Amino acid sequence: INWFPGHMKKTKELVKKNLKLVDVVFELLDARIPLSSKNPDIDVLVGNKPRIVVLNKQDLSSDEANKQWIKYYEKKGIKAVLVDAAKGKGTEKIISITKDMIKNKMERLKEKGIKNKPIRAMIVGVPNVGKSTLINSLAGSKSAKTGNRPGVTKGKQWIKLRGNLELLDTPGILWPKFEDEKVGLNLAFTGAIKDEIIDVETLALRLVEKLQEIAPLPLKERYSVEVEDRKPIDVLDDIALKRGCIIKGGEIDYTRVARLILDEFRNGKIGSITLEYPDNI
Ligand code: GTP
Repeated sequence: INWFPGHMKKTKELVKKNLKLVDVVFELLDARIPLSSKNPDIDVLVGNKPRIVVLNKQDLSSDEANKQWIKYYEKKGIKAVLVDAAKGKGTEKIISITKDMIKNKMERLKEKGIKNKPIRAMIVGVPNVGKSTLINSLAGSKSAKTGNRPGVTKGKQWIKLRGNLELLDTPGILWPKFEDEKVGLNLAFTGAIKDEIIDVETLALRLVEKLQEIAPLPLKERYSVEVEDRKPIDVLDDIALKRGCIIKGGEIDYTRVARLILDEFRNGKIGSITLEYPDNI
């Protein structure tokens, strides 16, 4: 997605409009980069509306960091859940926390004689955090789309979940805080923004540098290379040699080794590595 001011304003207005229709918001973040994958305006946008922070891709992030993030949100009085939307892990918890949060509201409605009003929720998040995957995972087999018979509905589509819950079938897409170079790099490392923003060779070099700092052991073990007290470029060269990323004549194929490292990092092959911890705030 190419974000420009007009586009940002439009998506924000759309999210604002949809927020009026729901009882609870699921703010989806990438557990590897909970800061960089956060929309800078989201807190103001959501306001007092009940919110659950969903830390997705927990399979790719470090267990230790995951625990720290949950604690961090707990301290702030915000409900947070670790999820692996691709495997459907943690989605039940989202539903049970939602029901818990909305219990009082439902009881008040009951007292007024309004029964079985569905609890409505929507997902918001920056591109690539896993919004569609989470919708599919929550929808699962136990659910049915409401009003999606051909010719019947125009307008909002609600997916019926268990427990009298309904989920808006289109997520709210918002922009990340990409003016910050660190944020841009984190988004690029995790594959959330396209490689074209920075050339792959430089990106891979920056990733090697970052991993040398925060995850030297996994890097060393994955590629059997020395990583301590070394220049990132030398580490990159060694990885290229180990993996046979060589052009005819013996020169290093930087594009190939760069793609290899980025792919392996994004798929969790180097390890479950979190790039941002609460104490980075
Ligand atoms: P946009 O449509 O760009 O806004 O993206 P989105 O937020 O809807 O993300 P989407 O569901 O398309 O997921 C992006 C990528 O992340 C896909 O390749 C998913 O398979 C992957 N993905 C989503 N959730 C998880 C997860 O929990 N673990 C892992 N390993 N991959 C995931």
